Amino acid sequence: MASSNEHKAKLKNKLNFINSIGFEHFEKIYDRTNVEALAPNLKELKGKNKNFYYPLSINTWDSKEYDAINKVVLSQNFTMGAKVKEFEEKFAKYMGSKYAVMVNSGSSANLLMIASLVLDKNIDLNEGDEVIVPTLSWATTYYPLQQYKLKAKFVDINLDTLNINEDAIISAISKKTKAIFAVNVLGNPCKFRKLHEICKKYNLILIEDNCESLGAKYNDKYCGTFGITGSFSFYFSHHIHTIEGGMVITNNERTYHHLLSLRAHGWIRDLPKDNKIFNKKGDSFEDSFVFVLPGYNLRPNEINGCIGIEQLKKVNNIIKQRRENAKIFKSLFKDNQNLQLQKEIGKSSWFGFSIILKGKLKNKRPEILKILREKGIETRPIISGNFLKYPVTKFLDYKVCGEINNSKEIDNNGFFIGNNHVDMEKELEYFKSVINKYF
Ligand SMILES: Cc1ncc(COP(=O)(O)O)c(C=O)c1O
Repeated sequence: MASSNEHKAKLKNKLNFINSIGFEHFEKIYDRTNVEALAPNLKELKGKNKNFYYPLSINTWDSKEYDAINKVVLSQNFTMGAKVKEFEEKFAKYMGSKYAVMVNSGSSANLLMIASLVLDKNIDLNEGDEVIVPTLSWATTYYPLQQYKLKAKFVDINLDTLNINEDAIISAISKKTKAIFAVNVLGNPCKFRKLHEICKKYNLILIEDNCESLGAKYNDKYCGTFGITGSFSFYFSHHIHTIEGGMVITNNERTYHHLLSLRAHGWIRDLPKDNKIFNKKGDSFEDSFVFVLPGYNLRPNEINGCIGIEQLKKVNNIIKQRRENAKIFKSLFKDNQNLQLQKEIGKSSWFGFSIILKGKLKNKRPEILKILREKGIETRPIISGNFLKYPVTKFLDYKVCGEINNSKEIDNNGFFIGNNHVDMEKELEYFKSVINKYF
């Protein structure tokens, strides 16, 4: 049995098994020793992206998650229950929010947020109203707007922060504008002081898509808590993962009750007796099938819930290490005139490391991505790039407000590489050496 120091040393060395640019073969990130250090109960664990030396994401679980899953399986309580509830309570407490509602994905969280606001007659967001959104986000930030007959008003992003451009928001506001749907991109907080000022002045609701930015802080407050509602994703590549999963948080009790009902068939069963939507009889038979809202089934299950509880215990360490990695990334490239890095606002939780090619590297993205791939470094576009280029927009009711040159620029010259919860100094140095050697 390895001592705990040996165990830690193994973990620390987990990624450090390559030492030069001479890397030509796709080594597996999960070699046997490391796998056993991470998950002693498993004979074989293969993470995603095993073909890359420097993958976008690796698994954040160890034996704690597998033990928790086993207990749920043996308990035979599979469907949403005590574990989901416990995770929600702990998550809300962690975020400093009154309420949290877990769902089966970040996309579901976005859908539930919009549904809960539009279907609540006390909230001034209704069919035909306009919602301002950045041109850079994930597709499922936008779809709920179409599904609830809201008009999306697209504005550009800031090239440095990658978040919504505040001046463009102001120019886009009309009498029909009711909300801003802000997105904290790749772990980086929006400038919430400014967004709050705008919302106050023009009487707008702020909604937050925080799916990429768990743990990010602005003015010492967690992202996700700045809007009336905030969404999170616990998909594999995110800061923590529950296989699939998502969360909505809010301080608004009415919204909370709408979220609870809409998550599960629009029924009243999950509502407290004293709730803001429907007068329950207090008879479990009578109250079990009463449908009050046009809802969905977006429920997570107990396996997702129990994993969330374990992952949350690690979240501070995960984010601490991601920030350490970011320091290394920034210092390695601070003098490179050809790469523009993301400018941090507040305290980013560094989902990944974005790069915009400029100077002599501008418009060389295809060659660079090809070499990076050959060298075992996985890359991705910066979310959608310019979302307006996709065919799906023909289904949306939308207007483009002003120029969107920055979105177009990242669409042509941007990409990101991964950040993870382990020490990545070697990987980042390796990345730098590839860039320096070939470009
Ligand atoms: C900004 C943003 N919103 C929403 C989502 C959707 O989350 P999920 O993949 O859990 O559905 C993502 C996914 O990564 C995202 O990046």
